[in-house]
Amino acid sequence: MENHLRSLKNFWIGSCLMFAFWYLIIYAYDWSSLSLPSLSSLALDSISTDERNQSSTSNLDSTNRITEEGEREKRCRGRYIYVHDIPSRFNADYIKQCSLLNRWQNMCPYFANDGLGQRLRPGWFSTNQFSLEVIFHNRMKQYDCLTENSSKAAAVFIPYYPGLDVARYLWDPAKAALKDSDAKDLFRMLKARPEWGAMGGRDHFLVSGRITWDFRRTGVNVTDWGNTVMVLPEARNMTMIAIESSPWDRNDFAIPYPTYFHPSTDAQVSGHQSKMAKQKRRFLFCFAGAPRPNMAASIRDQIMAQCLAAGRRKCRMMECRDDKRNCMKPENVMKAFESSEFCLQPPGDSFTRRSTFDSILAGCIPVFFNPASAYVQYLWHLPEDHASYSVLIPEGGVRRGNVSIDAVLSQIPNDRVAEMRENVIKMIPNVIYADPRSRLEKYDDAFELTIRGVINRVERLRKEMRDGRNESREFDLEFSWKYYTFGSTEPHEWDHYFKRGG
Ligand SMILES: *[C@@H]1O[C@H](CO)[C@@H](O)[C@H](O)[C@H]1NC(C)=O
Ligand SMILES: *[C@@H]1O[C@H](CO)[C@@H](O)[C@H](O)[C@H]1NC(C)=O
Ligand SMILES: *[C@@H]1O[C@H](CO)[C@@H](O)[C@H](O)[C@H]1NC(C)=O
Ligand SMILES: *[C@@H]1O[C@H](CO)[C@@H](O)[C@H](O)[C@H]1NC(C)=O
Ligand SMILES: *[C@@H]1O[C@H](CO)[C@@H](O)[C@H](O)[C@H]1NC(C)=O
Ligand SMILES: *[C@@H]1O[C@H](CO)[C@@H](O)[C@H](O)[C@H]1NC(C)=O
Repeated sequence: MENHLRSLKNFWIGSCLMFAFWYLIIYAYDWSSLSLPSLSSLALDSISTDERNQSSTSNLDSTNRITEEGEREKRCRGRYIYVHDIPSRFNADYIKQCSLLNRWQNMCPYFANDGLGQRLRPGWFSTNQFSLEVIFHNRMKQYDCLTENSSKAAAVFIPYYPGLDVARYLWDPAKAALKDSDAKDLFRMLKARPEWGAMGGRDHFLVSGRITWDFRRTGVNVTDWGNTVMVLPEARNMTMIAIESSPWDRNDFAIPYPTYFHPSTDAQVSGHQSKMAKQKRRFLFCFAGAPRPNMAASIRDQIMAQCLAAGRRKCRMMECRDDKRNCMKPENVMKAFESSEFCLQPPGDSFTRRSTFDSILAGCIPVFFNPASAYVQYLWHLPEDHASYSVLIPEGGVRRGNVSIDAVLSQIPNDRVAEMRENVIKMIPNVIYADPRSRLEKYDDAFELTIRGVINRVERLRKEMRDGRNESREFDLEFSWKYYTFGSTEPHEWDHYFKRGG
């Protein structure tokens, strides 16, 4: 009886050993950074105890830990991001100066909740359109493939807040001379670091929460608009990300503006999607915004006039002229968009608008008047087939007054409208930024798609350098929009939209 028990015990220990041995052999094979001997000794250590249960469980624990590491290595290979450690004077300190960031509005509350702003209800926040760099940085802290080893990294992130930096000076000519100083200091510092040497900075990227035009001052007069972040020699080698990119430059790429929705669970996303799918939409179209009386080329006056002419039962107008507060209330904007089939997105001070993303979020089909408002901007986030989720009404026709927006939209058959709306609602997860304090499992949010876009670009640049090619020589700066959107610089029907000065 005793003999029998002992042999049973030996049998179990033997089985455990064999199991552990083969388990480790199989997984260690894929796992190059740890050598076999240390693995075997680890396994033997844990089995050397007499207690069968204990030995098998602790053995499983360590193999779990090892395979977790191995799986991380497998999952993260080619996706690692190295985050530069830079002094807080280039990021967090700007937030401490939040009262200086905007002459007309106190920006401080917008930095609550990791940059999401004040919480309105679960998943919803009063988010400022220029907060992206803070949200993105905080989101990066949660990225599942960060590395401390820059030579393993697919790309290098610089957690600088260029938008907050320049905002301190934009409306103050007396301080104009200071506008470039932080960026120049930072770039000088980065260039001296060993990480820069690997690719001359080509694997580096940063994210700006303002539009590209705030960083492209080219004249010699420092009181001209903006600073020079995006035209400095170092920046020309980096990938610069912003909420609006220049169609005529090759080093900047656009990603969605932040909306008010920052879910922390998959269920919040799918819950919102099904709510938007069931929404009753009383209005055919909707416009929220202000006229641009000082911009001769603006079509906003015509848009507003057409909305009024269509009548109150067809076009919902939220005019932001007198009562700016009204338009800045997230509930008001979302309610208007959620009750409309189409949302008009004419250019404002620049080509793009935050409103585009609010409208997608509301399941409202965006209507664009210029391809520079979205199609050649958000290449990593919006579907290639723009007709599947939006309408393009050429701005020239609206300006001349011979295109009726009402007529164009009314002519679209109902089943087509339903199909487009379905596509818009499907896009929601891809244009929102999840709450940086949590992580979605099922969906890729705008952050994840941005990381993918950056890594693909850096990979291409790396290959180019290996092959001794130079993409920059393959197209004229002027045609960057075309090259990046269509992969070619052949004549295109949109060319007239991109004639400079027109
Ligand atoms: C060994 O594990 C079994 C099943 O998990 C359990 O029922 C038993 O109580 C354990 N024995 C000891 C000594 O922990
Ligand atoms: C960093 O990664 C590289 C490439 O994977 C590797 O050769 C090197 O040993 C790593 N360095 C450290 C300190 O882990
Ligand atoms: C720069 O521009 C400002 C305002 O446009 C003007 O007052 C100033 O004289 C200019 N300075 C120089 C050096 O041209
Ligand atoms: C940008 O890259 C080129 C080519 O690798 C290199 O010669 C140049 O020094 C880099 N620029 C800076 C500012 O590092
Ligand atoms: C609008 O007017 C322009 C010239 O004034 C003309 O070329 C164009 O065909 C017109 N478009 C429509 C839709 O009538
Ligand atoms: C590619 O060409 C451009 C323009 O001629 C130059 O500025 C850049 O440094 C070149 N890049 C590399 C990697 O040689």
